[in-house]
Amino acid sequence: MFISFEGIDGSGKSTQARRLAAALAETGAETLLTREPGGSEGAEEIRRLLVEGRGERWSPETELLLFTAARRDHVERLIRPALARGAHVVTDRFADSTRVYQGLARADLRTLVEELHRLTIGIEPDLTLLIDIDPATALARGQARGGVEDRFETLGLDFQRRLRAGFLALAAENPARFRTIDGSGSADEVAARVLAALP
Ligand code: ADP
Ligand code: TYD
Repeated sequence: MFISFEGIDGSGKSTQARRLAAALAETGAETLLTREPGGSEGAEEIRRLLVEGRGERWSPETELLLFTAARRDHVERLIRPALARGAHVVTDRFADSTRVYQGLARADLRTLVEELHRLTIGIEPDLTLLIDIDPATALARGQARGGVEDRFETLGLDFQRRLRAGFLALAAENPARFRTIDGSGSADEVAARVLAALP
């Protein structure tokens, strides 16, 4: 299975991706936990160009190309080989993040995003778990964490509200692939909802 976690910044995706990967690994199946942007050596280098520095460092179009280049490397080097061996791959973000962040929230590049995906990536997860949460709660969690990767979080609450609406719209458009998980409450409570949503 190829499973992606999606959601706004600070929604608790990384926590839940880690927990699900641990639960799958306990069944004895080979399981890879990975993330985007990043996940392979080259993609992690591109990640640093994207997440550090000023919010207006890249134009929306350049940003889209960098995220897509990182994803191509991640898919080539890590995801496809792992799926070909029969491993489970759990990724913290995948192409839906690009659809929402670059396609809708940063600029209206939805058509370009879909075309680039079709031409250069071409795969979708079997299952996408959208961790849905109130943006104010998520922003508070993200700010409490601190660190240098603040380029996106500094875009603020209104931006996070647009992202949330974008993710919910994508889930509604793709009901066969998406499961929307209530991200409120403790990490244990959310993890139980994630397990209950698995096919
Ligand atoms: P994301 O990957 O979506 O940004 P994280 O999993 O990194 O989210 O969570 C953001 C912060 O909130 C982290 O400090 C994490 O420990 C904390 N956190 C995660 N899940 C919960 C939860 N259910 N309740 C409270 N805090 C949480
Ligand atoms: P991530 O490390 O998942 O951040 P967080 O833990 O705060 O959710 O991702 C870094 C940022 O990159 C995040 O704000 C989302 C953004 N992003 C895009 O804008 N487009 C993309 O395609 C991806 C994968 C991430």
